[in-house]
Amino acid sequence: MSGEEPGAYVRVATVGDLPVGEGMAITIGEREVALFHVEGGWFAIDNVCPHQGGPLSEGWVEGETVTCPWHAWCFEVKTGAMTLGDFATVDAFDVRIQGEEVLVAPRPRAACVREQ
Ligand code: FES
Repeated sequence: MSGEEPGAYVRVATVGDLPVGEGMAITIGEREVALFHVEGGWFAIDNVCPHQGGPLSEGWVEGETVTCPWHAWCFEVKTGAMTLGDFATVDAFDVRIQGEEVLVAPRPRAACVREQ
């Protein structure tokens, strides 16, 4: 979104946009991000699968795990970690709910930690 302060959370959706158990693709700056609404809350990770680029937002969501629609690599929507190995990961972004608005941090969690 233009006019945002650097580091400010970005409004990406409203809570009615995404039912529990589903994901949607959003764009933050130049990054493709997958937003998920699960029983445990709202989470955001990279939308691009590190295997061959599959769209994780279109994957199958079960609990807090998403399965890539292309070749079934699985990732925790909370952390971006693989569930069946540790040879790949995707970045995770903090999500906040403010009233009816879903806000996502402009930078991934891991990148923020490395820069401190
Ligand atoms: S592109 Fe995601 S598992 Fe292959």
